[in-house]
Amino acid sequence: DYPKWPSLARESILNVPMDLRSVRLSIDGKVIDYGAEIDSVVITGMGGSGVVGDLLSDLCWFWDCRVPIIVSKNMRLPRRLSRPLVIAISYSGNTAETIMSANEALSRGYPVIGITTGGKLSAVLSGKGVPVVLIPKASAPRYGLPALLYPALIILERFGIASVTNELESGITGIENALKHVDDAVNLARQLVDSIPVVWVTESRRGVGIRFKNDLNENAKYYSVISVVPEGAHNDIAAVITKQGCLKHVAIMGPSDYEGLYEEVLIDVISSFGARPIIVKLEGKTPLETEIYGVTYLGIVTLALAELLGVEPVSTEPIDRLKNLLN
Ligand code: PA5
Repeated sequence: DYPKWPSLARESILNVPMDLRSVRLSIDGKVIDYGAEIDSVVITGMGGSGVVGDLLSDLCWFWDCRVPIIVSKNMRLPRRLSRPLVIAISYSGNTAETIMSANEALSRGYPVIGITTGGKLSAVLSGKGVPVVLIPKASAPRYGLPALLYPALIILERFGIASVTNELESGITGIENALKHVDDAVNLARQLVDSIPVVWVTESRRGVGIRFKNDLNENAKYYSVISVVPEGAHNDIAAVITKQGCLKHVAIMGPSDYEGLYEEVLIDVISSFGARPIIVKLEGKTPLETEIYGVTYLGIVTLALAELLGVEPVSTEPIDRLKNLLN
């Protein structure tokens, strides 16, 4: 799927309806006006779909986003919302948590937009006249990431939340650059064999860390831990003195993630206690390019790891069983 990501990103932009702001619905006696002012964006979704919220939330550390992005990976929505736009993302459209939270949003009278390949989410939303962005299929939800992320970016643009148009192409450059680093990715994967990776990221790169952890879990069937700094420098860091041989520290570093000498000092301290972190430098000229480079490159690392371990990367039986039982 990865080599198809550039075209998947471009293709899926075209599926976003032009006239989103003119939608006006009446559901259970409540008028939902998509043209009205909003004061937050809630992204609801799970796993490979929900990570879109984490990535957008990262990007808003670098962009001038007009309203907060709230990431909601739950069956319900946060109680204290005033005038949110809710973007419900489920690749399959059959994730119970996402369907429940989208229904809750509609019952509270919030504008909702679905992003999915179909399934129940599409049926439920379309049946009520709610706009749905239908996206092309991939081998599994997480392998369709650009098809989930790019429509969400366009929605932010259409609702005046962030100006993304000028960066869209750079995101695709990020994918293409990561695809040129497959050999490095395989080397990194080799270093992770027989370890529990501890992933160090900044607060503004949390989404990349979460995606790496999720891909390690789902592709390589591997446990992993994330330490988000600077907070992690006030708790997780105390555990680097541990002699649990299975831990392997990986520090992910984007071009403008750290202030001043923070990066050097952090690595110095971790190393001086014997942790020897593997440093992954993210490349990119724009925030979107860096972010997408990161998730693509690290995703390839997890696929390489799966291959080294002789693990089949696509299937995720425990997730499927849970989803089926909840449906
Ligand atoms: O990538 C995966 O396969 C999972 O993390 C799924 O994304 C997760 O189970 C949610 O399913 P969906 O994306 O279909 O809503």
